[in-house]
Amino acid sequence: MGKDIVILAIESSCDETSAAIVANGREVRSNIISSQIDIHRHFGGVVPEIASRKHIENIDAVVDAALREANTDFSGIDAVAATYGPGLVGALLVGVSYAKALAFGLGLPLIPVHHIEGHIAANYIEYKNLEPPFICLVVSGGHTNVVRINSYNDFEIMGHTRDDAAGEAYDKVARALDLPYPGGPKIDRLAKQGNADGVKFPRVMLEEGSFDFSFSGLKSAVLNYLNRCSMTGQEVSYADVAASFQKAVTDVLCAKAVAACRLTGIYRLALAGGVSANSALRAELKKVCEENSIELFIPRPVLCTDNAAMIGSAAYFEYIKGNTAGMNLNAVPGLKLGERRY
Ligand code: KG4
Ligand code: ZN
Repeated sequence: MGKDIVILAIESSCDETSAAIVANGREVRSNIISSQIDIHRHFGGVVPEIASRKHIENIDAVVDAALREANTDFSGIDAVAATYGPGLVGALLVGVSYAKALAFGLGLPLIPVHHIEGHIAANYIEYKNLEPPFICLVVSGGHTNVVRINSYNDFEIMGHTRDDAAGEAYDKVARALDLPYPGGPKIDRLAKQGNADGVKFPRVMLEEGSFDFSFSGLKSAVLNYLNRCSMTGQEVSYADVAASFQKAVTDVLCAKAVAACRLTGIYRLALAGGVSANSALRAELKKVCEENSIELFIPRPVLCTDNAAMIGSAAYFEYIKGNTAGMNLNAVPGLKLGERRY
């Protein structure tokens, strides 16, 4: 093997300011994550304006810490990468501008990375021998996709959500259950004390053969159930509601992921995005994958939620393809998977 390719990666698309040093796309030398959750919790969700301001305050210290933890300095870096979409525009601009300034000042290549391609790449860090093709179930706060990964740089969306993303549904239902933001992990915890068959909620599968998702009906069913109980004075077990909602989401995600593997004949399934940290989803996927002889890949939770190491991994596979940007790189909040806008 030749010289290591070492990338300094920056992630700032939502409410985590993160910087990482990643070698050859798979070896994480540092992964510093500064979360703003405690600030946004007061508002019940991410406030974009505040997120941008916090990113700009934190980014330099986070990059500094990433270099220090990796025992290196700027002279040990071969390229600078940043998430340039999708995400909150003001938040993205902080990481993009910082990366541009660094790349320019150091005379290094600048690598733009799609946030979801980063989530998918978290699997390359966890599983050193994983190579495309495989199917990936992407479940985050903003996205729910079934993706066929044909090569490191070629992504084919088989299905997407037509309304709420899985994480968004978790966060909205959590709010109705008086749980603080971000609700996903809180529902996960509360559901452990509840009965998943306690309340009957719908499993929206859409048309036969479709890999699309729709979670807004399920979310409304939960809200209607809570309203009905409150109007009729019926006692509600929040734990049962959490467990039943979680089971309804998990059933749909697992069914579609397995169907995608069967249809394509690719019996390798990876999980990506913040909701992959969900314990019920992880357990159920393990079960259905075993039943269907599908090899399952799930990164550890810290690589599932937003972090820069995953961006550094995806960036490596872009870098070796020559996908670098000029100084006119901009943030693209609505960037599509597989799209390159630079
Ligand atoms: O991927 P991510 O960190 O940010 C986006 O790119 O959106 O995902 C954040 C989402 C939030 O909606 C959060 O509630 C959800 O992931 N999440 C979870 C769990 N941990 C995070 N949802 C369910 N169970 C969890 N354990
Ligand atoms: Zn994310």
